[in-house]
Amino acid sequence: MVGSTGISKIKTAIFISGNGSNMKNLIKFSKLKTSPIYVDLVLSSNKKANGIRYLKKTKIVSKIFNFKKKNNHEEKILKILKKRKINLICLAGFMKILSKDFIKKFNGRILNIHPSLLPKYKGLNTHERAILNNEKFSGCSVHFVNSKLDSGKIILQKKVRINKNDNPKTLSKKILKQEHKLYPKALKKLLTRN
Ligand code: GRF
Repeated sequence: MVGSTGISKIKTAIFISGNGSNMKNLIKFSKLKTSPIYVDLVLSSNKKANGIRYLKKTKIVSKIFNFKKKNNHEEKILKILKKRKINLICLAGFMKILSKDFIKKFNGRILNIHPSLLPKYKGLNTHERAILNNEKFSGCSVHFVNSKLDSGKIILQKKVRINKNDNPKTLSKKILKQEHKLYPKALKKLLTRN
């Protein structure tokens, strides 16, 4: 797709599992003429994801895959991505692990956002763990996806202060707000020259 700046935008798929606030934010961002991405497809591992409900109001194609079933869903996904000529995958609250093979096929073209200052607190329950460890700061990271969980090269991070009265819920809210700024910023850093 060619954006209104005349520059062609990168055909992107967003993978989600739940709320989809990062997804919504990326869709909004993709509509700006300065955005380097065009959201062509959203894939969800959960048919009840809030994000899917939101998509019904848009023209964006969505696909749901039940990762619980031991079937060849990755092959099917790769076929769809190929057919739609997807060049970039943005994971946004996607709770499933992609196989090494899948990651290899999309080498260097899968990004993720994680709610911690990686390499600290990979995996789940990041806010609880940061608070329990009396960290003064946490934050969020946008990184490349490689075959190890939350371990790919970091593109951008944002630090967020943890206050004495913060709990996992308040911290998550503060960090999510920063995630919504960080993901577009990281995409611009990675995909545009200025
Ligand atoms: C975000 O905190 C993201 O960093 C993490 O999962 C959460 C998803 O939130 N991977 P949302 O679905 O984008 O609202």
